[in-house]
Amino acid sequence: MKIRAAIIPAAGIGTRFLPLTKAIPKEMIPLIDKPTIQHVVEEAIDAHLSDLFIVIGNNKQAIVDYFSSPYEHADLLKEKDKKRLKETLENRIAKATIRYLAQPKPLGLGHAILMARTVIEPNSYFSVLLPDDILVGTEPAIGTMAQLAKQNNAAVIAVQEIPQEKISAYGVISIAEQLNHDLYEVSCLVEKPKKENAPSNLAIVGRYILPHKIIAILDSMQGNSGELQLTDAIQKLIETGEKVLAYKIPHKRFDTGTPHGWLEAIGHFGLNDLR
Ligand code: G1P
Repeated sequence: MKIRAAIIPAAGIGTRFLPLTKAIPKEMIPLIDKPTIQHVVEEAIDAHLSDLFIVIGNNKQAIVDYFSSPYEHADLLKEKDKKRLKETLENRIAKATIRYLAQPKPLGLGHAILMARTVIEPNSYFSVLLPDDILVGTEPAIGTMAQLAKQNNAAVIAVQEIPQEKISAYGVISIAEQLNHDLYEVSCLVEKPKKENAPSNLAIVGRYILPHKIIAILDSMQGNSGELQLTDAIQKLIETGEKVLAYKIPHKRFDTGTPHGWLEAIGHFGLNDLR
């Protein structure tokens, strides 16, 4: 089983960063020298995912322009900087194809995944990377998760321990069985529970390996009121008998979807540059 597709939902309206996001997509907000979305694009490419699909809404043309245009002043850079630029952007991106899918309205993460219904091969698994969640570690998390999906013939979601007072901002899993120190079989999931109702302290991080079957499940949930939640669809996937594993990531995670998380990420990458 080869996992090739990476879906990167980037159609969110970025309310936490208004008024800036009137003009700049939140995924293009910089972390020193790279926009946040480039971190997940690089993670996907480092994990040998070759077919990248960025789901975009209105006002996101800057993302398309960024990944498609070569740097026009490359010739003026000194030899050393030219090499660095090539290494960090163009050469790496050349290892994959990036295509864009439209999500006309931000109707939830599940709805964003549905926009990829025609590009995901039947009977295959595909990956989802949320660009707000930036993971720093020795291995690309999504690559490890793809291996786990292949070995176990199962869907895999990333999780992390979160303090109880913050748990209601996440999808939270309930464990059927601990398989080893960082791998669990999931019995159920709940999206953004009240802290007193959270079934564990293991919160979903924005990395998923999912079977094609989830598309039909999401499709059947359309028209329900509110946003179409991916977490609810994964719950239904378990109910159909599909095995869903949770991988506790060893990475440092930055939630750049909030000003606080963004500032922490800036601190990390900025200090790294000084070393
Ligand atoms: C989404 C998911 C949630 C997950 C989170 C991780 O929520 O719905 O289950 O825990 O990403 O970042 P969002 O942050 O888009 O509200």
